[in-house]
Amino acid sequence: MLPLPSVEGVRLATLEDLHRISIVAAAAFFWSPTFRFQRPRHGEFPSDTIASYWADYKAAITDPACAVLVAEDVLEEDEANDIYEALRFAYRPNPPRQKGIVGVCSLSLKPNSHYIGHVQPESKPIGALGSDTTNSITLHLDLSPQYEGHHLKRDQCAVALEIYNRCTGPAKLKHLGGKMRLSTLAVAPSYWRRGHATRLVNFCTQLADLDDATLGVSATPNGQHVVEKAGFQEREITHVKRTLAHEQQTCEGRLDTAEVMLW
Ligand SMILES: CC(C)(COP(=O)(O)OP(=O)(O)OC[C@H]1O[C@@H](n2cnc3c(N)ncnc32)[C@H](O)[C@@H]1OP(=O)(O)O)[C@@H](O)C(=O)NCCC(=O)NCCS
Repeated sequence: MLPLPSVEGVRLATLEDLHRISIVAAAAFFWSPTFRFQRPRHGEFPSDTIASYWADYKAAITDPACAVLVAEDVLEEDEANDIYEALRFAYRPNPPRQKGIVGVCSLSLKPNSHYIGHVQPESKPIGALGSDTTNSITLHLDLSPQYEGHHLKRDQCAVALEIYNRCTGPAKLKHLGGKMRLSTLAVAPSYWRRGHATRLVNFCTQLADLDDATLGVSATPNGQHVVEKAGFQEREITHVKRTLAHEQQTCEGRLDTAEVMLW
């Protein structure tokens, strides 16, 4: 068993966490310019937003070359008040002093990493869910039928995604290719400025040291504050601009962000 970093309040995510991870990611990324750029119809189709994070994080949790980490805290009873209106339906009032997930981050390991297959969550015995009692990772549990297989992506703009990938692809390849990569970092608004992102990044940098890997990140302006403080050095800034053709094609002028900067 390879050693894993130990950071207070941070642990590997499990498939049972997927619902909470998805709504925390949606609530946080709403504040990222990338989200506004790629998901201009998030207000109309919040279930599609949740479902897409569900699918992305499920894929990462079950991918032996990736890791998903969560940060936990005591949940605010009225945290839904800090969430954008369309997403509030997914929140229930929390009982006092209940602990839960408030932040999430995902990373992909460097190619040929010793840690491939060693950063998966511990499996829940399948017997606990009424099947047999093997301890294999429960990859195919259908834990939330309302999001499973719900890949309509009506909140997203395919042209915006294409522009985003075209603009950022070369810089990502140049600076992040062959490295361990911090892919996503999100903390729900009620829990900002409590050090959760810093602790998640700290887990990743410790893992990079253990794995003898260089850790890279493509960050938005909010994330820049955190990664700069964690000691990352800026390599390139990419501007992603919407075009008139883009507006006229599919997004019907719904974009509220004209420019996205990436670190
Ligand atoms: C960016 C984000 C992850 C930060 O989460 P967080 O838990 O609040 O971050 P931390 O508490 O660890 O903050 C670490 C430091 O970053 C800086 N920082 C964080 N948020 C900041 C902000 N909004 N403005 C200025 N500095 C900020 C501060 O220096 C802070 O340290 P301090 O509170 O001791 O001054 C969170 O705001 C978020 O999820 N935003 C939306 C999604 C996003 O943009 N993700 C980044 C993608 S790379």
